[in-house]
Amino acid sequence: MGMNKPDLSVKIGNINMKNPVTVASGTFGFGQEMAEFYDLSLLGAIVVKGTSLEPWAGNDYPRTCETPSGMLNAIGLQNDGLDNFLSEKLPFLRRFDVPVIVNVVGHSIEEYAAVAAALDKAEGIAGLEINISCPNVKEGCLVFGATPEGAAQVVKAVREKTSLTLITKLSPNVTDVVSIAKAAVEAGSDAISLINTLLGTAIDPWKRKFRLANITGGLSGPAVKPVALRMVYQVAQAVDVPIIGMGGIMNAMDAIEFMLAGADAISVGTGNFVNPMAAVEIVKGIEDYLVATNTPNVASIVGAVS
Ligand SMILES: Cc1cc2nc3c(=O)[nH]c(=O)nc-3n(C[C@H](O)[C@H](O)[C@H](O)COP(=O)(O)O)c2cc1C
Repeated sequence: MGMNKPDLSVKIGNINMKNPVTVASGTFGFGQEMAEFYDLSLLGAIVVKGTSLEPWAGNDYPRTCETPSGMLNAIGLQNDGLDNFLSEKLPFLRRFDVPVIVNVVGHSIEEYAAVAAALDKAEGIAGLEINISCPNVKEGCLVFGATPEGAAQVVKAVREKTSLTLITKLSPNVTDVVSIAKAAVEAGSDAISLINTLLGTAIDPWKRKFRLANITGGLSGPAVKPVALRMVYQVAQAVDVPIIGMGGIMNAMDAIEFMLAGADAISVGTGNFVNPMAAVEIVKGIEDYLVATNTPNVASIVGAVS
């Protein structure tokens, strides 16, 4: 006896996702390049590159290097700024039937709040993901995400400016991620996403030089998956809001591990660079898994590990 098509839909705050698969900020740009590979409407949501009030130039080159089972990046949140996002990038994304989540960055709490206020007024945005976890910029960002107090301050300031679904993106570069997740939720965050990259470095022994101009960068890819999975599990045990899990997801089985650990949705990041079709293949793979395990809806596997 065959089963009906399983229900892949999930909800993150007020965002209805047709499936649990989204893409990690900074690995998908603003969708323009990826739209040449597939119809972006196939995704559950799109999370765009970090967007700041004014354009940011980013760090010096080289900004990326490959590492065993992963990569380091120190882009430094290069982006064209809020006005350009609203006039150029958002109109393109609105052509697709997919929720758009804007990753927000700032050097100060006021800057996060100002970006949030402007995005709140724009048409066609489903949610904000506040990045308080980027290890590659000198001021702001991880400065806030490194303590429960700092996280709460940013979330509170942004919450006052928007009724959009608010997702707080956490860093793994902390001693106790659970206390930071709890503080973000108490301050008004509707959901948590994790993890951002792990701070690392790499050296070229022949040149006796660092491989990144910035010296340090953020580690991502399969190398970080066990750390990410552990943090998703710990945070899922501690908070009552939806979780978007990421860190080294390359295929559907990786995605399912994150959902079993407690993620309501997942993001594909570095996996997009290895295989541009990864995210849509993961949607299909999740569906196949549900059929194979006679599971009528994907939401029922969230946190189902024992
Ligand atoms: C090249 C690159 C750029 C990134 N830019 C951002 C960013 O702008 N904002 C952000 O919150 N995270 C950024 N990230 C982190 C990813 O969104 C993701 O949290 C991390 O890479 C872990 O997932 P992965 O192992 O699937 O890549 C970036 C990651 C990479 C590799």
